[in-house]
This record gives sequence, C-alpha cells and structure tokens, in this order.
Amino acid sequence: MNRYFRVDYDDRQIAWLYFDTQDASTNVLTEEALEAFDQQLISIAQAHPKGLVILSAKESGFIAGADVKAFATIPSPEAAKKLILRAHDIFHRLEALSFPSVALIHGYCLGGGLELALACRYRVASTEMSTRLGFPETHLGIFPGFGGSVRSIRLLGHLPAIQMMLSARSVSARTAKRLHLVEFAVPKRQLKNAARRLILEQPAAHTPPLSRRLPGNALLRPFVARLLRRQVARHARPEHYPAPYALIDHWRKHAGHAARMYASEAREVSTLLTGETAQNLIRVFLLQDRLKGLAEKSDFTARHVHVIGGGVMGGDIAAWCVLKGLVVTLQDRAPEHLGRAVSRAHKLFRKKLRDRYQVQNAMDRLIADHLGTGIKKADVIIEAIYEDVKAKQNLYRQVEPVMKASALLASNTSSIPLEKLAEHLQQPERLIGLHFFNPVAKMPLVEIVTQAGNPPQLIADATRFAKGIGKLPLPVKSHPGFLVNRVLMPYLLEAVTLLEEGVSATEIDEAALRFGMPMGPVELADTVGLDICLSVAEKLSETLHNPVPESLRRQVEAGHLGKKSGQGYYTWNKGSAQKEKPRPAPEQLGHYGDRMILRLVNESMACLREKIVDDAGLVDAGVIFGTGFAPFRGGPMHYAEKTGKKEILSKFRKLEYTYGNRFTPDPGWEDFQT
Ligand code: NAI
Repeated sequence: MNRYFRVDYDDRQIAWLYFDTQDASTNVLTEEALEAFDQQLISIAQAHPKGLVILSAKESGFIAGADVKAFATIPSPEAAKKLILRAHDIFHRLEALSFPSVALIHGYCLGGGLELALACRYRVASTEMSTRLGFPETHLGIFPGFGGSVRSIRLLGHLPAIQMMLSARSVSARTAKRLHLVEFAVPKRQLKNAARRLILEQPAAHTPPLSRRLPGNALLRPFVARLLRRQVARHARPEHYPAPYALIDHWRKHAGHAARMYASEAREVSTLLTGETAQNLIRVFLLQDRLKGLAEKSDFTARHVHVIGGGVMGGDIAAWCVLKGLVVTLQDRAPEHLGRAVSRAHKLFRKKLRDRYQVQNAMDRLIADHLGTGIKKADVIIEAIYEDVKAKQNLYRQVEPVMKASALLASNTSSIPLEKLAEHLQQPERLIGLHFFNPVAKMPLVEIVTQAGNPPQLIADATRFAKGIGKLPLPVKSHPGFLVNRVLMPYLLEAVTLLEEGVSATEIDEAALRFGMPMGPVELADTVGLDICLSVAEKLSETLHNPVPESLRRQVEAGHLGKKSGQGYYTWNKGSAQKEKPRPAPEQLGHYGDRMILRLVNESMACLREKIVDDAGLVDAGVIFGTGFAPFRGGPMHYAEKTGKKEILSKFRKLEYTYGNRFTPDPGWEDFQT
C-alpha cells in the first residue's frame, strides 16, 4: 500500500491493482501517481500473475484525467515534453506486459484515465448512468498526449477515434461497447466477473474493420483531413482554437506509423499545452472548479422545490430541478401556463433522458400545483413571477407564514434590489436571489444574489443548492444588473450604436466573432428578444450612464422583437438569422470589436471596484459562464491583464476622445496591476 495504490492477488493468481488516492475523493494522474503506478507495474511484472486488473476504489469513478492544476504551472514546452515522454514509457510498459491486463471502469474515465485504459489489453465498463468515457482535451486547448491519439485510432478505427477526440464528448458504457472501446458493458455487480473472464479466456483483441482503417490510407488522408478541418471550422477558428487543427495535421502527417505518431504527439501537445490558448482554457477549467468549490461550506440538501410562476423562467427552472432528481411543485395563477410549462418539461426530459421509464419518472416528480399546497413542505421556494415589486411583495406575504423554518426563499428577479423585495417580510434577511439565465437548460451559471443582512450560512446553503442542481454558483451583490447583465448591456448597447451609425448587423457580429465571442451581439439581442433587451437597458440606463437607444425602442414599438417574432435587426427564417457576407477591411472590424469589447471590459472593472463580486478571478468566471465571453481569452480581466494596463488605458483614452465619456476608463484601473 502506498499513497495511491494497493494490490491484492486472488486465488487464481490475478493481480487486482486498486487506484485509491489518499485524502481525495477522485483519482487523478499526477506526476507522482504516474511514478507510483510505474513502481507497481514493475513489481507486479516480477510476480508473474495470470493477469492484471486495474480498478478504482473511489465511488466517483476510475480516473478523472491528468493533473490539470499542474498543467497551469508547467514552466516550458521542454518540461511538458519530458512529462509526456515519461507517461509514454509507463504506458508502453503496461501495454508490453506478458500477461493480459484489464481496465475495470466505473464512473469517470476521462483524458489520461482513458489513455491508461487504452494501454490495457482489454476494458470493461459499468452500465450505470455515471459511467463516462471520453477525451475532453480539446476543451483544454490540447489533444490526448499520453498515447491516446495513437491507441484510440488503432482500436476504434480512424474516423470514430478522431471524431471522439475532436468533439471532446464523453460516451456511456453502452456506446463505448458499440464503438469497441470496451469489450463488455455490464452492470456494476458483474464487472469483476467480466474482467476475470477476459483474463482466463484471453480473446483476440479487437481490430477495426477495413472500412474504418481505410480513411487512414496515405492517399486518402489529405482529402479526409480537409473535410475534418471544414467540419471543425464551423465551430472554432484556427487562430482561436489551434488544438483540433493540430490534431488533424498530426494524424494527416503520421497516421500508420506508430513511432512517428508517439513522437509527434509529444511534440505537438507540449507546444500546445504551454501556448496562450491552452493556458487560458486551463485557467477557465480551474475557475469552474473554484465556483464548484464555493459550495463546500454547506451540506444543505434539498428534496422538494416549490417554484412560483410557470412562465418562461419558472417553468424551465422547475423542469431543470426535476431533471436533476428533485420533486418539484409548480404554481401559477394561470393554469394554462402550467400546461405549457409541463409540456416543455416533457420535451426536455425526452431529449435528455431518452429512456421511456426515466422520462415517466421525471414527469411523476413534476407536480402542477395551482393552489400552492407545496409551499409548506418545500426545502427551497423559488419565485419567478412577473418583474413587478408589488406583486412579488404580496406573494411573499402569503408564502412566509406557511413555509418551513429551514426552507430557502429565493427570487429569480433580474433587476429588483432584494432589499426592496424583502421590505414586508417578517424576516427580510431570509430572502436571497437565485438568478438563472435563459435558456435555463443551456446556461451553466446561476448568480447567488445577496443582500447586506443575509446570514453567511444562508448564502452557503443557496450556493450548495445551485451546485447540487448542476449549475455553477457565483455569489454577487444585489445591485442593478448584478454582474452578468451589467457587463453584457454596454456591449450590446455599443452594437446598437454601431447599427445607428449605419454599420451592418452582419459586420458588427463578425467583429465580435473575430474576437472570439460565440455569437455576435446583434444576433444575441435578437435571440434574447428586443423587448427584454429594452427592459434591461431601461433599468440599467442610470447605472451605466447610457440613455436607451431610440432605435431599440422603435423596433419594439413596431413589434420587431427578434427571433421570436421573425423580425428584429435581422430577418429570421426557420430559426436562422438571414445574414449577408461582410466585406469590410479587417482593421475596421478590429475597431468595432474594440468598441464593444472594451465597454464590457470597462464595466467588468466597475463591478470589481464596487465589489459586486469578490475578486477578478470571479469576475472572469461569471462573465465567461454567464455571457459566453471568449473562453480562450481567459475572461475580461485576464484579457486586460494580458493586453497590459498602458495599452488598455491608451485605447480607452482614444475612444473617449472620439466617442465621449462612455469610454472614460473606470477609476478602478488606477489600482490595476499588470
Ligand atoms: P413570464 O411572464 O414568462 O412568467 C411569469 C409567470 O408568473 C406567468 O406565468 C404568470 O401567470 C405567473 N404569475 C404572475 N403573478 C403570479 C402570482 N401572484 N402567483 C402565481 N403566478 C403568478 O416571466 P419570466 O420571463 O419567466 O420572468 C419571471 C422572472 O424571472 C422575472 O422576475 C424576470 O425578471 C426573471 N428573469 C427573466 C429572464 C428572462 O429571460 N425572461 C431571465 C432571468 C430572470
């Protein structure tokens, strides 16, 4: 037994090597763990067992991946390459064992964990829902570097393996079986038997059929690579996300030559890993972990949630909570809204759960509750009725005397100060904000809106609840727009100003896409709804010192609400904005991009200075997960830091000179260190 592994030999002389990292709930392949693994392999090889089964003693799963934290501090491409070559050696040793080896997989088997499993002769995986096998590396700006890009192709065939690495999507045990990634997908209780059988019977290892080997043919590869590049280009530009393109090139140049592929893998991944994109994406990954970690100060658990207001937000919040296993009573004063919310929920369950019985189970947990009888039993009550102070205050008057003493009372308000909403409560400090974003099922962030009197435990409990339903919680102070809407609005308003100056919607959106935003601001405004944008712009106009643009008001008055009405700044056809091809000079696009992005960056600084969130890292996390801000840039504050204080201030001054005081640098920049 050491800090990472223990080994048992059974009466059939099979070695069972348990990965069981001390004082951790998850196994991660740190450099130290890899060395310990190597030591185990050496001593097991000397014992000449009949076979080796590698398994995890952790509930959470097999191996979550390589040590991403260490990636953030790796000093040079040479150091990265040394680590990768060492992992190659160890996995080659595993692969070359003279007896059969099996990876016994349950729960997470990702990245480096899957690469280790691929170096075993066989793999078996448990069919539980929590089992996921995949290569998330491209999300971190790299591709599999511990031999995975070679072994996955050898086992699955060229295209299935490349697609799995490019997509970064993980698969269930059953899909893994279909792909021949595992030999058996069985219920957890049968895993050990399945592993034993493989060792005793030693079936021939799977080789992909000719059709799956063919795309690797040297004559076909350039053509297939071009198709793959085109497919990737639909989602990611090479100048923003080089990793998928590097993977395709690595494959195109070296497929079919194992030794050359291992060498190229080590070279390419070490260069990518220490590059700016990967380092920023690793930062985003760690920020995500930090948000999750905020929930650790509480052990609050909820079983029953009561949602009041079954409209766009309330209905979707209710459905989401049900999807995450909770019982939800959903109240609305208009029964027809409940009907609509329940049928939307059904659609979501069908999409996400697929299995008929699970969909039925989920439907059984969603209870239409016209009279609000669920209030008295609920652990969490979420109010999502109209954005109207009086209506919300009246509602709380009825709810407070009935709810459990231990229940959380939360509002989904997007703009009303909590202090105002809580005015007539017996215990005003009980009210907290849980600000979800639309569409609830897609947006990962929830702002935990706090007011001055909230007890720290209540904030911790609300944070825990949000994390418990699979969202990233971000505590923010109750102040108009909180963080996300506050920084997003100046960016959208600048886009509207550009439109008023005669720049086309397509050019404006292209400028933002070139910066790396996932969707241009004009398309985003049309998608959210121009009426909603107008209402937020009105509420924030004082805070932002930005009058509401007349053209936005006119659009709404004309009924041009964007995607939902078929006409906004764009004309919409079957859910897509009709765009023209932009043809301006690139430097002009850069200027438009600067105008929009710098307003967002300046407002981020204002939020930091006003302590809407606690620090610059949390500002970055909130803006990335709440607005989609180009993740490879590491967040607005990080972007400012990388650009440099002098350069940022000089850009603000120039824009201020031309366009006025909406570009005046926030006073917070004075203390900003880069
Ligand atoms: P909505 O208009 O779609 O739905 C409101 C629902 O509340 C309606 O179904 C209505 O019948 C019901 N309702 C009104 N008064 C009620 C009462 N006293 N008792 C029971 N039900 C009542 O509104 P939406 O868009 O869902 O917004 C709800 C809240 O969420 C607002 O506070 C809004 O600011 C906030 N929000 C909205 C977002 C959006 O994109 N729509 C995003 C984030 C927050």
